[in-house]
Amino acid sequence: MLKDLEKMINEIDLEKEAPVLEPDRQYYYIAKAKKYVSAQAEKLGRSLTFCVTTFGCQMNARDSEKLVGILEQIGYVEETDEEKADFIIYNTCTVRENANMRVYGRLGQLKRVKKENPHMMIGLCGCMMQEPEVVEKLKKSYRFVDLIFGTHNIYKFAELIVTRFESERMVIDIWKDTDKIVEDLPSERKFSFKSGVNIMFGCNNFCSYCIVPYVRGRERSRNPKDIIREIERLVADGVVEIMLLGQNVNSYGKNLETPMTFAQLLQEVEKIEGLQRIRFMTSHPKDLSDELIEVMKNSKKICKHLHLPVQSGSSRILQKMNRRYTKEQYLELVRKIKEAIPDISLTTDIIVGFPGETEEDFLETMDIVKQVRYDSAFTFIYSKRTGTPAAAMEEQIEEEVVKNRFDRLLKEVQEISAEVCSVHTGTTQEVLVESLNDHDASLVTGRLSNNILVHFPGTAELIGKIVTVNLEECKGFYYIGKMVE
Ligand code: SAH
Ligand code: SF4
Ligand code: F3S
Repeated sequence: MLKDLEKMINEIDLEKEAPVLEPDRQYYYIAKAKKYVSAQAEKLGRSLTFCVTTFGCQMNARDSEKLVGILEQIGYVEETDEEKADFIIYNTCTVRENANMRVYGRLGQLKRVKKENPHMMIGLCGCMMQEPEVVEKLKKSYRFVDLIFGTHNIYKFAELIVTRFESERMVIDIWKDTDKIVEDLPSERKFSFKSGVNIMFGCNNFCSYCIVPYVRGRERSRNPKDIIREIERLVADGVVEIMLLGQNVNSYGKNLETPMTFAQLLQEVEKIEGLQRIRFMTSHPKDLSDELIEVMKNSKKICKHLHLPVQSGSSRILQKMNRRYTKEQYLELVRKIKEAIPDISLTTDIIVGFPGETEEDFLETMDIVKQVRYDSAFTFIYSKRTGTPAAAMEEQIEEEVVKNRFDRLLKEVQEISAEVCSVHTGTTQEVLVESLNDHDASLVTGRLSNNILVHFPGTAELIGKIVTVNLEECKGFYYIGKMVE
């Protein structure tokens, strides 16, 4: 498919004006950028290289695959050593303050590298760029950055690169919001056998602590036909597992011309022949329907894993967070899910130290963790995000108190998760082999349907295949196993 695109791009007439409609306009700019890049490469006597670093969530990871797809069509070659690359891109995240600090830290180092290597280009994109204060700071103190764009116009990457080549100045293009979804742009998958697939963009929930709705814009669902077509192509290209992506997949389809529920979409995806595993992220508890539970229960392909962020166990704090469920409603939902799908693995996100959180509230969180017994939980220290309602709330909690609660919660979560994880010892399960083991090349690493990792003797030929493995020994959060012939 990418080869066909390449051929088409090579045939574009650059003497003509750029087309107005997408994606044709971007194909035109890819062709144009390609000319500039090949001219530079000729001068240097070698190919130009790029290095993309991704911060944040699966959405950003998927966006980065699109950036890489465009860069490769333009003629750049991947370089893993950042300091050697001709074009460095940071796809940023701003969900918590420490994500921002990491970007500034690394940018500081790049300043020195660019001094020695002036033709190097630096591009910044992603959620952080949607914050006006960030762009101001970059304009003032990081003048050596070449290209800044946001989350809504990532599809214009090729056009922006051309603008940069032609202007020789810092190029900034940030949109406040968009209702546009551009299909059929090139994209380069990180894994040959699995892929993320966006089903929706943005978020309308406005949880009071969260910056995502401000930086990712209003919720928009992709047309089911486009989703199915993308997955069919992926499967034809060797993909066996997909992860449907959205900030709140349970509200999929509400704004489509012909509304459709997430559960209905899943049933359509299930029908795709050759596709073996379906995952999705993230489910907001307030919108998780009985219909979805039923579909998951009857599905042969949907993995036995549900990420169901609880955020807090205190109904009082949940209300202040604008999560729109109570502790009791969440527990009832978990009960229904476990009853329908007893071997499901549940994971969650928890925030500690939300404004006004008392010791009592925190104990409610400890209690819900003990009641649900999560397979794993991501625990976060509350981070104040400018512009969100929670940032203006009184009673921000002292750092020491938060740290103490965080440590107690982490200990509890880890103890439970080791116990929950070990229940599969001795069972035989299907595993999708993902890679050679990082530490021991005689082993491969694969994932169970419930998302737990297992390491077992095997060779690189197994990568991308689903094999049957006996789970011999649980090592806390993962297994050591043996393939069953
Ligand atoms: N859309 C997803 C989560 C997106 S952000 C959902 O609603 O579940 C991933 C996680 O980051 C959230 O679940 C939350 O636990 C955490 N998070 C978001 N904003 C945060 C903040 N200001 N401080 C600390 N953690 C935060
Ligand atoms: Fe943020 Fe809430 Fe939207 Fe998730 S659902 S992205 S936590 S506002
Ligand atoms: Fe971060 Fe943006 Fe994802 S803020 S968590 S990269 S949607």
